[in-house]
Amino acid sequence: MAEPPAALNSGHAIEFAPGVHWIGALDPTLRTFDIILKTANGTSYNAYLIRGSEGVAIVDTVKASFSEDFFARLESVASYDEVKVIVLNHLEPDHSGALPELMRRAPNAKLYISTRATSMLKALLKPDGERFDYTTVGTGDTVSLGDRTLRFLHTPFLHWPDTQCTYLEEQGVLFSGDVFGCHYCDARLFNDKVGDFRFSFDYYYAHIMRPFKQWVLEALAIIEPLKLNMIAPTHGPILRDRPRRYVAHYRELSSSSLAGRISDDERSLIIFYMSSYGNTARMAEAIATGAEQVEGVRVSLYDLEGGEVEPFVDLIEEADALLFGSPTINGDAVKPVWDLLSSLAVLNLVGKLGGAFGSYGWSGEAVRMIEDRMRGLKMRVPLKGVRVKLIPSDEELAVCDTFGREFALELTGQRAGGKVVDMADLA
Ligand SMILES: Cc1cc2nc3c(=O)[nH]c(=O)nc-3n(C[C@H](O)[C@H](O)[C@H](O)COP(=O)(O)O)c2cc1C
Ligand SMILES: [Fe+2]
Ligand SMILES: [Fe+2]
Repeated sequence: MAEPPAALNSGHAIEFAPGVHWIGALDPTLRTFDIILKTANGTSYNAYLIRGSEGVAIVDTVKASFSEDFFARLESVASYDEVKVIVLNHLEPDHSGALPELMRRAPNAKLYISTRATSMLKALLKPDGERFDYTTVGTGDTVSLGDRTLRFLHTPFLHWPDTQCTYLEEQGVLFSGDVFGCHYCDARLFNDKVGDFRFSFDYYYAHIMRPFKQWVLEALAIIEPLKLNMIAPTHGPILRDRPRRYVAHYRELSSSSLAGRISDDERSLIIFYMSSYGNTARMAEAIATGAEQVEGVRVSLYDLEGGEVEPFVDLIEEADALLFGSPTINGDAVKPVWDLLSSLAVLNLVGKLGGAFGSYGWSGEAVRMIEDRMRGLKMRVPLKGVRVKLIPSDEELAVCDTFGREFALELTGQRAGGKVVDMADLA
């Protein structure tokens, strides 16, 4: 019979490379993480201990409620007096929870954090006269444990401003923080032993790293040249079998999510709408017709009634501009529009062009509400959206056409500043 996985034997560290130990904690029953993530397999909080000829380093800690596991595992391989170095790659409470107590127990240790972590450290630990000294580090800085060297890599915004990675040079182990991590609790610990965690790995990326794709690419540029024997993230399996596959996969995930661009020399404008009596739909068509007159713009029109939100997220990520049409129903835009707008938090929309339009009966709040939401998502809303009372007349459809054209001209940088009249303002 196979031996039970070593990590289940609580109180013991697991050495997975000479002098390199896992001292984390397993949280198999967790089902939701940080509100936004489902964790069907629970999670783990991975922390590490490295023993060098001149001292011991701890890289990351665990969530506060799992401190007991962490300290027991630490004590199984080192005494607190030996701890010279504490590295926090990321200060989110799932990794900094046991830090204050560790600082108390390890009086000889120096704390190393990224420069951006400083203000967070103060805000998280709110020291009341407690020992509170630290050294800030960036790419190229190192700390020596005698025969072992820890090198710091500045990899911010993955997924907080403070994040960094730490590289154990002599053994080629990358302590990557949340990068390359996933919520997948498995006491077998290593990627060549645990169950199939591919879904969890991609799911974690999609919800945690995806909004920061540009930062992922910058981090990969630093990580890819390293000699990598293992990647040791703060959640989920330790990647010791073919770690480069995960690096390559991150690059793939951070590149375009669609199969190629629709075109290299066109800007993409997507118009989404919803309509009960066809009024907003007619506006959408007129706006599309106007936009199509502008060369260099590819217009796509989608009725939200006929689609699911999820597949649109990829399209939106690749689009240069978005228009949303909604009637006003009970003083609000309609739910499918909000559903789509609220699922865009996983994207970086900064600087994309946005706009809104819609038919209404008497108060017509929807358009302005959508515009506000777009601004909240850091999109640029260059034109005041068009609102039409009930059924659009020919004259009003002509205004929609102009709105579409002006919006497309803005998108291609050709707009001279033509004014679009919101018919509701004239009423
Ligand atoms: C249940 C219901 C609630 C509505 N509430 C509002 C409202 O609060 N304010 C408003 O301006 N119009 C309201 N309207 C009017 C619609 O916005 C109007 O009929 C509009 O032309 C519908 O456009 P559509 O054909 O694109 O759906 C409401 C209509 C319905 C059926
Ligand atoms: Fe985190
Ligand atoms: Fe985390």
